Amino acid sequence: MKALILVGGFGTRLRPLTLSVPKPLVDFANKPMILHQIEALKEVGVTEVVLAINYQPEVMLNFLKEFETKLDIKITCSQETEPLGTAGPLALARDKLVDGSGEPFFVLNSDVISEYPFTELIKFHKTHGGEATIMVTKVDEPSKYGVVVMEEETGKVERFVEKPKVFVGNKINAGIYLLNPSVIDRIQLRPTSIEKEVFPQIAADLKLFAMVLPGFWMDIGQPKDYITGLRLYLNSLRKNTSPKLAAGPQIVGNVLVHETATIGEGCLIGPDVAIGPGCVVEAGVRLSRCTVMRGVRIKKHACISSSIIGWHSTVGQWARVENMTILGEDVHVCDEVYSNGGVVLPHKEIKSSILKPEIVM
Ligand code: GDD
Ligand code: MG
Repeated sequence: MKALILVGGFGTRLRPLTLSVPKPLVDFANKPMILHQIEALKEVGVTEVVLAINYQPEVMLNFLKEFETKLDIKITCSQETEPLGTAGPLALARDKLVDGSGEPFFVLNSDVISEYPFTELIKFHKTHGGEATIMVTKVDEPSKYGVVVMEEETGKVERFVEKPKVFVGNKINAGIYLLNPSVIDRIQLRPTSIEKEVFPQIAADLKLFAMVLPGFWMDIGQPKDYITGLRLYLNSLRKNTSPKLAAGPQIVGNVLVHETATIGEGCLIGPDVAIGPGCVVEAGVRLSRCTVMRGVRIKKHACISSSIIGWHSTVGQWARVENMTILGEDVHVCDEVYSNGGVVLPHKEIKSSILKPEIVM
């Protein structure tokens, strides 16, 4: 089977992290987002992943080359010369996706995290005989997503409304699809939206089906949701009694510590923390609900909560970093500095406190 991952867009909502790498390469739980997806696709027998891309293809491909061999999966690029939206890229990649076998293919938004229940998705798709299956999940705030109205029993989709202004329902498009090759015949090679143009049309033909996604789901394309997503992800590792979770007297709740990271004496780490490769966490540090990316140093007695610390940054002694602070790559927070929701661009040195949420350029 084949899969296409939509990796276009500039990831502006995840700046300053996306100033250093394209959104799909931003680390989530110690691994670039897109690797979580590629690994899960490989598990269900996908042999080729097509990246639909309109920005920095070299960066992506160079990075993923290593994983092509490691995972034994083919990764190719389909590059747009202008952004083709969420449907146009399927028409552009037609020759890569359609091989005459008639097999359906996966399409994924690159910023969604879940347990990727692809096996269940394939099974469901085969039983209903429609043209397309989308996975849906329930959320409290449906207006920022695509909302799906479906027949509970059969899963047949009655309506698909992208980002509705009035309440239509609370089941939303999870950005994970299995499509028959015939869906491509419905798409022209021009900028076009699968959510606004293609799904409503298939639904009108009564050939669009939805399956409620088992387990957790999150679009991690914005900092607040990224931090929530980490909590849900770690929680699901716990549920599946994953050996990846850290344990010990310094650990509270669900925590990931990369094997090459070091933790000093008297630290208290957790809940909901990911510490990446090569990180040095000095003595007496307190970390909760945060992501610490590769190569970060956190000096003695610093305290970090609800924040993301970008690659190779340092946080000084007695510093306090909290309330959705996002440090870009290679940021240095000096000793005793306080950050309340600072969003700091790469390569900055922070010498004085950031007292209220603001962007530091
Ligand atoms: N190749 C390519 N070209 N990819 C694109 C383009 C483009 O022009 N525009 C967007 N994408 C990719 C993004 O990288 C992302 O992976 C996916 O398409 C969806 O775009 P987002 O910008 O993340 O959309 P959204 O989060 O507002 O809404 C979408 O996702 C929701 C679930 O997270 C929609 O699919 C909603 O219906 C859905 O509920
Ligand atoms: Mg998104």
